[in-house]
Amino acid sequence: MNYQTQRLVQAVTTMMVMVFGAGMIRPLMFQLASHVRTERTTTDKIIDDLERTWHRIAPDISMRMQSALGILKNIMGYYYEEPCIAAWDNSNLIGVAVYESGYDKDRGIRYIALKELASFTHMPGVGKALVAEVIKVAKEENADNISVASAPEARKFYEGLGFRKDTRYMGEPSLMVLKVPKAEK
Ligand SMILES: CC(C)(COP(=O)(O)OP(=O)(O)OC[C@H]1O[C@@H](n2cnc3c(N)ncnc32)[C@H](O)[C@@H]1OP(=O)(O)O)[C@@H](O)C(=O)NCCC(=O)NCCS
Repeated sequence: MNYQTQRLVQAVTTMMVMVFGAGMIRPLMFQLASHVRTERTTTDKIIDDLERTWHRIAPDISMRMQSALGILKNIMGYYYEEPCIAAWDNSNLIGVAVYESGYDKDRGIRYIALKELASFTHMPGVGKALVAEVIKVAKEENADNISVASAPEARKFYEGLGFRKDTRYMGEPSLMVLKVPKAEK
């Protein structure tokens, strides 16, 4: 085999490894994501887990983890017995959604306000699994909508899940709302 043929075989082999390798990794990622276990709880019941998560992710200096750390700090500092959804990977707390259920007297509707949401891992699907559980809560509570004051970098994530900018709140441009489908309530 001459040198050029050798290079060609090498290039084809590398391409095959990349294509088939990616094909094997992608289902594995989805498999991992689909194994995220969510649990309805309150912030006071997971305080030790929040602290363990803090120590686990603090060394990760990526922008994404630093903003997740900020949210974790808020949850530990400001929310004492709030309802929340915890996401678990075995015994590791890998995500939290803190929410509030309320009734808007003026509009005569029930609502859910998503106060904090963060995934503390690079595993995909955690944010989506947390929001899916909040939607279930909203349906059970006959809520009309779910609102969130979205961080700019999370806007696309919420849009992908069906949230839209709420134009009624001109003073709060970051507010996004998901209408809870009536037929499925
Ligand atoms: C925002 C956050 C909770 C999303 O959680 P996640 O587990 O990374 O998101 P998921 O993997 O469930 O993503 C669901 C979908 O949204 C997309 N998505 C996630 N983050 C995105 C982003 N920043 N921009 C565009 N799309 C995004 C994913 O690609 C995925 O799309 P798909 O369903 O077509 O595959 C997470 O990135 C996070 O904790 N960020 C830091 C804290 C933060 O900003 N929280 C929001 C405060 S309002």
